[in-house]
Amino acid sequence: MKTEFLKITGHAADDDAIIARAAEVIKQGGLVAIPTETVYGLAGSAFLNESAEKIFTAKGRPADNPLIVHIAKPEDADAIADTNELYYALAKRFMPGPLTIILPKKAIIPDTVTAGMPTVGIRCPSNPVAHKLIEVSGHPIAAPSANRSGIPSPTNAEHVRVDMDGRIDMILDGGDCEIGLESTVIKLDEDGTGCTILRPGAITADMLSTVCAKVTISRAVIEPSLADDIKPESPGMKYKHYAPKAEVILIDAAEETFIHYVERDSASIRRYGIFTNNESAGSFNGGMMLLLGPRGDAKEASRRLFTLLRRADEMELEKVYALLPPATGEYLAYYNRIVRAAGCRIIKLGNNYN
Ligand code: TXA
Ligand code: MG
Repeated sequence: MKTEFLKITGHAADDDAIIARAAEVIKQGGLVAIPTETVYGLAGSAFLNESAEKIFTAKGRPADNPLIVHIAKPEDADAIADTNELYYALAKRFMPGPLTIILPKKAIIPDTVTAGMPTVGIRCPSNPVAHKLIEVSGHPIAAPSANRSGIPSPTNAEHVRVDMDGRIDMILDGGDCEIGLESTVIKLDEDGTGCTILRPGAITADMLSTVCAKVTISRAVIEPSLADDIKPESPGMKYKHYAPKAEVILIDAAEETFIHYVERDSASIRRYGIFTNNESAGSFNGGMMLLLGPRGDAKEASRRLFTLLRRADEMELEKVYALLPPATGEYLAYYNRIVRAAGCRIIKLGNNYN
């Protein structure tokens, strides 16, 4: 299959023409990779069984991992799922934006989309290209991240090209994704006032607390190695994820200890990289610096993480070293992804390491 590559120009008339062509592909049951504010998505009609099947094939995705359905405005959820008051309260505050809410699904959404689950994840993206495409196509859009299954999600159109060229109909290049990590996925608690975070993202627990009486973080978010053992509330959490070919060595230690460890462990390695904040980059004697941005800037580190994991492979690094971030606040989403990229292995070093 020949994949068409189209660049969003910023000129309204040209972009309208591009989006009209992409909407035609969606209506005909084809696949289009699209920019969203989180990561690039692999979009197909959520009404068409064949589109969902093509998405699973193009990604090499396990058939039991459901797809998120994207809508143009919160009310559009009513046609495809059972909404409630809490959904609308959350939608009012966070939609459009990087939040996915799991709701009981209606029959109009094929079982292939939800991998046989009785629920469907609903998201209303804020990216104008994604939004316009949903509106113009008139179909809700099933879209997982546009990467081949298992590797980091794409945050620019070139990442998508590497993974999907020849496998899908069209790629829309809308530049770099603003957030860089996938949406926060939540389910609503049965009491009608609380919610549970199944996958952390840019909408944090604190932000959700402004609407929900209680916010629970699923255990598998903080201890991803548990995801295999506990009931898979969100099937995607149990799969190997975000892993580059390079081995990711994740260190739980003070920064000085981390620097010391890297010095020693890398002595016999030819090609290695170090995830570091800008301020500490000068403290290492060798290795490729994979810059996360200013120290303590969780948003910037999140924006760069997937690009840097891909860069590690582009540079054919054997190992990359990274410091474990706090599993709290704005760092929780970054924490959750990098722990998975490291295969859930964390090396803990005390202050007396030398
Ligand atoms: O930011 C995002 O959410 C991106 C963009 C493209 O919108 N999409 C994305 O989709 O990350 P995907 O398929 O790569 O990840 C969806 C996650 C998976 O972990 C999946 O298991 C979970 O959401 N999920 C989807 N539907 C679900 C459901 N009905 N119940 C529980 N978990 C669900
Ligand atoms: Mg994904």
